[in-house]
Amino acid sequence: MSSTVESLLRADLRDFAGYKSARSDTLIGRIWLNANESAWANAADTDSRLRRYPQPQPEALCARLAQLYGVAPVQLLVGRGSDEGIDLLLRAFCAPGQGRVVIAPPVFGMYAVCARLHGATVVDVPLRDGSAGLCADLAAMGDAALAQGASLLFLCTPGNPSGELLALSDIAALARRLRERCIVVVDEAYIEYADAPSATTLLEAGDNIVVLRTLSKAHALAGARVGCVLAGPALIEALRRCQAPYPMPQPVVDAAMEALEAGALALTRSRMAAVREARARLADGLRGLPSVRRVYPAAGNFLLVRFMDVSAAFAALLAAGVVVRDMRAMPQLGDALRITVGTREECRRVLAALEAVGAEAAA
Ligand SMILES: Cc1ncc(COP(=O)(O)O)c(C=O)c1O
Repeated sequence: MSSTVESLLRADLRDFAGYKSARSDTLIGRIWLNANESAWANAADTDSRLRRYPQPQPEALCARLAQLYGVAPVQLLVGRGSDEGIDLLLRAFCAPGQGRVVIAPPVFGMYAVCARLHGATVVDVPLRDGSAGLCADLAAMGDAALAQGASLLFLCTPGNPSGELLALSDIAALARRLRERCIVVVDEAYIEYADAPSATTLLEAGDNIVVLRTLSKAHALAGARVGCVLAGPALIEALRRCQAPYPMPQPVVDAAMEALEAGALALTRSRMAAVREARARLADGLRGLPSVRRVYPAAGNFLLVRFMDVSAAFAALLAAGVVVRDMRAMPQLGDALRITVGTREECRRVLAALEAVGAEAAA
């Protein structure tokens, strides 16, 4: 076991084997009567693919994902989106009612939601708003993790909704500082849009680093629900024991395998360049509007925008049939909207709708 897993895994889960499903047996045979599956296929299942339970960690898909992310298959756990990865981390490393996790709000909401569901305390270290953008204070986050005895610290890079891209050297330094004391989770849901190296390159150096990746964004498979946790083998094994027996439905596995074939991957890569260009064009267009107070630097496929009168901007977009993410309820973002970079026409519609909004600040 790695020293981090040894010191941070919930004590009551140390000798916990998890559910042993029929598919996890290493038995070999031609007649399978060990899982109470139907002996006949459903009439709708014409090629009889769905009669059997799927593999808990589908081997071919895991191998392909491992290759995509540049890790070994033993360093990867696939699940129902990175949302499931976040949930599994909480389950494994926060004792119910006792755990603590450090986050930097405003940030993706699932870290706090999962923490709350597990009865863990959320330690907030707010982002700092400055000339470089809305930025995480990694030193303060590290201080908070040590002072509060947190077992998990979530970084989001590129940040949702901040758009901030963290430097790998800063992540590595934080992980070194927290070694054996706290796991640094690096959520890279939008990293493909940033054209920057992944924190997976840090996995060999530190066993308290976990990277979350997803097929929901750049790979355009949000509806399939496929995400990965990447970490050292001991940590992956600990999470696997906390996961539901058959997390990956067979049609999802088949769709993901197709989406990761060479042709589809090449198209995905070329789309990233197009999104980066469209992002720059949209940001320029927004900066030229009188109703826009600030457009933050962005490394994902969205822009965080402050408005003179955010209610008027939101209403104008809605009146034009454009739905964006209302950030008004989030800390520090009472005048902000988050706008996804869409097609050229969708971006044009956003700018056209906002042109009519005046420069007056809300009363
Ligand atoms: C930062 C971040 N992490 C994780 C997720 C969840 O991704 P998935 O679809 O893989 O569960 C999202 C979804 O919007 C996100 O913004």
